[in-house]
Amino acid sequence: MSALAREIRQNVEKRRTFGIISHPDAGKTTLTEKLLLFGGAITMAGTVKSRKATRHATSDWMKMEQERGISVTTSVMKFEYSGYDVNLLDTPGHEDFSEDTYRVLTAVDSALLVIDSAKGVEAQTKKLMDVCRMRNTPIMTFINKLDRDGLDPLDLLADIEDHLGIECAPLSWPIGMGKGFKGTYSIYKKKIHLFSATHGGRIQQGVVIDDVNDPKLDEMLGLAAQDLRRDLELLEGAGTPFSVERYLAGTQTPVFFGSAINNFGVQEMLDTFVELAPCPRPRATLTREVSPFEEEFSGVVFKIQANMDKAHRDRIAFMRICSGKYEKGMKIRHHRIGKDVQISNATIFMAQDRTGVEEAFAGDIIGLHNHGTIKIGDTFSLKEELKFTGIPSFAPEHFRKVILKSPLKTKQLQKGLQQLAEEGAVQVFRPMLGNEYILGAVGVLQFDVIISRLKDEYAVDAIYTPVNLSAARWVQSDDKALFERFQKELYSSLATDSEGNLALLADSSWRLEYIMEQWPDITFHTTREKN
Ligand code: G4P
Repeated sequence: MSALAREIRQNVEKRRTFGIISHPDAGKTTLTEKLLLFGGAITMAGTVKSRKATRHATSDWMKMEQERGISVTTSVMKFEYSGYDVNLLDTPGHEDFSEDTYRVLTAVDSALLVIDSAKGVEAQTKKLMDVCRMRNTPIMTFINKLDRDGLDPLDLLADIEDHLGIECAPLSWPIGMGKGFKGTYSIYKKKIHLFSATHGGRIQQGVVIDDVNDPKLDEMLGLAAQDLRRDLELLEGAGTPFSVERYLAGTQTPVFFGSAINNFGVQEMLDTFVELAPCPRPRATLTREVSPFEEEFSGVVFKIQANMDKAHRDRIAFMRICSGKYEKGMKIRHHRIGKDVQISNATIFMAQDRTGVEEAFAGDIIGLHNHGTIKIGDTFSLKEELKFTGIPSFAPEHFRKVILKSPLKTKQLQKGLQQLAEEGAVQVFRPMLGNEYILGAVGVLQFDVIISRLKDEYAVDAIYTPVNLSAARWVQSDDKALFERFQKELYSSLATDSEGNLALLADSSWRLEYIMEQWPDITFHTTREKN
C-alpha cells in the first residue's frame, strides 16, 4: 500500500459524516450544542442557540430567518471526538423546509433522529425518514426530554416502528420519567448513569454504577430499581436484539433515551455513535461505484448557498469529497463544463468560523467560492470523467406565478430565475401555453427567499399571484408515439423545467391520479436526478 493510500485509509476510517433529523422543537439545536460541547468545538452552552439568532445577519433573507426565529440554511460543523473526525451537517428543521433539507441527507453517511418523548413521531420526521430510506441511510435515535412527562418508553418504540417502518433496538433504557426521572441504563455498555438535573452546560456524566443487581442501586433508587430490573427482563425476552448489520443496512435503529438540555444521555449516545456509525461509504456514479479509499480525488456538489458573505457577493458550493485527498491549491476538473480549476480558497466549516482548508478526505465537506458556474450535482475529479448520481430534485408541492412590476426587467428576471433554479433554490417551470414563469417549491418559505433575492441580487421587483396548481410530476416514456399522443392531449397541463425536462402540472391530486390511471404506460416521477 502506498503512503498516500495508507494516509487516506486512516483518515477515511475515522470520519463520521451525519445529519440530525427531527420535527421542529424536538431539541435538535440543543442536542447539536451539546455534541459540539463534547467535541470541544464550543466552550459555552448557549452558543448555538445565539447563533440561531445572529448568524449571517448580513443578508436579507437571513434576516427573515432571524425574524421568524427559524433556521433556513444548512451549515456544516466539524469537530473531533475521541479520535474521530465528525462532520455534522445541520438540516433545517422548520416545517417550511426546502429541498436543501432533502439534499443534505444525500451527503451524509448516517443520520441521528431526535424525537420528543411527549410527542412521539411527528409529521416532518416521516418525510425526512422517507429520504433516508431511499438510500438505506443508517439511523440512530435519541428520544429526548425524558425530564418531562412523556409517553411510555415501550409505546414510543412501538410508535417509531409503526410510523417509520423501522425496527427499534433500545441501547439504553430510562429509569423513571418527568419529575421521577432517575437516569438511564446502558443496555449496550451494561452501566447505569444516574441523573442529576444540575448538569447544565457541563459535560461530565452523573454517578455511574456498573451492575444492575448492585444493592447500592436499591438504596439510591428505591422501587425504581426493581422497575428497572423488571423492564430489562421484559426487554430481554420480548425486545429486538441489537444488530450492527441491520443498523448499517438501515433496517434497524438503535435507540437512546435522555435529556439534551440537561446533557443527560448525550455522551453515552455520542460514544456509541462514533463507534458504530459508518465511515464514508462508496458512492454511485453513472459508470461505476467510487470507493472513498481510492487515491484519485473526486467530489460532488450537493448544495449552493448565495450571499453567505455580502461583502463578496459570491456563492458557496458545498462539495462532499467522495474519494482521494484534497490539498490546497490542487487542480481539479469540473466535468460538466470540461474545465480544470485550481482550488486555492476552499473553506471548511468549523462550529464558529469558516477557515481555509489545507487538506481534506472523503466524508469532508468543503466550500468552493464561485460566481454561478457551479450547479448542484456537479462532479469534480482529478482526471476520470465521473458523474455522481443520487442528488435529486423533488416534485414541488407549492406553486406561484411570478409577475414583474416593471416589464422592462424581463431579461433580468429570466437570468435570475435560471440561476436560482440552477442553484436549487427553487424550481422554475415554463408552461407550454403562455409565457409565464411558474415557481415550484417543496416548502413555501422558499418563495419569500426568492422574491427577496431577485430584488437584492438581480434588481428585479416581482410579486407573486396564486396559481391553481398543487402537484407536479416529471413525465417520460420509451414509447415515442404514445408519448407524442400524451403530449398533444395534455398540452395545456405540460411545462418544461429549467433544464428542459417535461413535467405535468396538475391542479389537484385527484386530477393527477386520474391522469396517471388514464396513461398507465407513461412514467410519472416524483424525483428527478440533477443533470
Ligand atoms: P429544535 O432545534 O429541534 O427546534 O429544538 P430546540 O433545541 O430549539 O428545542 C426546543 C425546545 O425544547 C427549547 O425550549 C429547548 O430548551 C427545549 N428542550 C430541548 N431539550 C430538552 C430537554 O431535554 N428537556 C426539556 N424539558 N426541554 C428541552 P424553548 O422554550 O422553545 O426555548 P428556550 O427558551 O429554552 O431557548
